[in-house]
Amino acid sequence: MNTRLLGQTGLRVSILGLGAGQIGDDQLSDADAGRLLNTALDLGITLIDTARSYGRSEERIGAALRHRRGEFVLSTKVGYGVPGVPDWTSECVRRGIDDALRRLQTDVIDVAHLHSCPADVLLQSGVLDALEEAKSAGKVRAVAYSGENDDLVASILSGRVEVIQLSVNLCDQRGARFMVPAAAAAGIGVIGKRPTANAPWRFRARPEREDEAIYWERWQALGLREEMDPQELALRFSAFVPGAASCITGTAREAHLRRNCAIVERGALPEELRAKVHAAFSAVGARWLGVI
Ligand SMILES: NC(=O)c1ccc[n+]([C@@H]2O[C@H](COP(=O)([O-])OP(=O)(O)OC[C@H]3O[C@@H](n4cnc5c(N)ncnc54)[C@H](OP(=O)(O)O)[C@@H]3O)[C@@H](O)[C@H]2O)c1
Repeated sequence: MNTRLLGQTGLRVSILGLGAGQIGDDQLSDADAGRLLNTALDLGITLIDTARSYGRSEERIGAALRHRRGEFVLSTKVGYGVPGVPDWTSECVRRGIDDALRRLQTDVIDVAHLHSCPADVLLQSGVLDALEEAKSAGKVRAVAYSGENDDLVASILSGRVEVIQLSVNLCDQRGARFMVPAAAAAGIGVIGKRPTANAPWRFRARPEREDEAIYWERWQALGLREEMDPQELALRFSAFVPGAASCITGTAREAHLRRNCAIVERGALPEELRAKVHAAFSAVGARWLGVI
């Protein structure tokens, strides 16, 4: 698996990372989650992204990968959900970091994101100060923000975040074509999330989950179905957006993970096809906002 530097953090990440949202699902056994996480590292994946809100994901990563901690870059998200502490306060960030370190069974979180707070909160509530203090204390390596649209622009302009995470996929090109180059030019590392737009081609009819439904509708409107196998088209687009270091595929299935690794090995889309993906979006998606 090829790797790239994550901005100026000094961290190096595989071009395909694992989004460990699905790993936290209670319907998955601990043993299966552990097997998938170890397989990811065996396949050369060196970025694992989780969050406080992903069910049992953090604790399973800690249990399954504690002995391999030196092999991967660990990313998580904080700012909310600490019992008895108001969300989006410096205390909540401090406690969130300490909780995550314990669950992840590690001494340091490589990339700690503020998880989708609005720009006003980001800039005025002390949450960035708390994250910077955690970095000074050696608990965090890189200060990061995950979000979309105007809030994401504010995070880039603040000059205080070293890594951003945003949706980067063929149904969500606003970020890929404007935010990613701007962030890269500012020396910020970029992690692309939802790299296959939640694989909308899996659903015959409009799915009920709101984010999946938005991408399903966009996918119908883009008219790209005939160009290439959609999973391949999507991943070879997202994994090679100039300026993005890695994209994090979400899956709890080993066969899917192996296939996704094999797909990115094929490299970027041929230029003509990449141009078609851009043109399809320009024709119908100029007003589509980034999906958190
Ligand atoms: N920061 C944020 O606010 C935020 C928001 C969303 C996501 N994320 C991060 O980004 C990661 C990925 O996002 P995501 O999972 O929402 O979107 P995604 O990676 O675009 O799509 C995931 C979906 O694609 C399916 N899939 C994966 N590989 C497949 C394959 N080879 N063939 C068929 N289906 C396949 C998965 O189903 P199976 O499980 O059946 O494989 C899963 O339901 C998350 O895990 C998380 O780490 C962050």
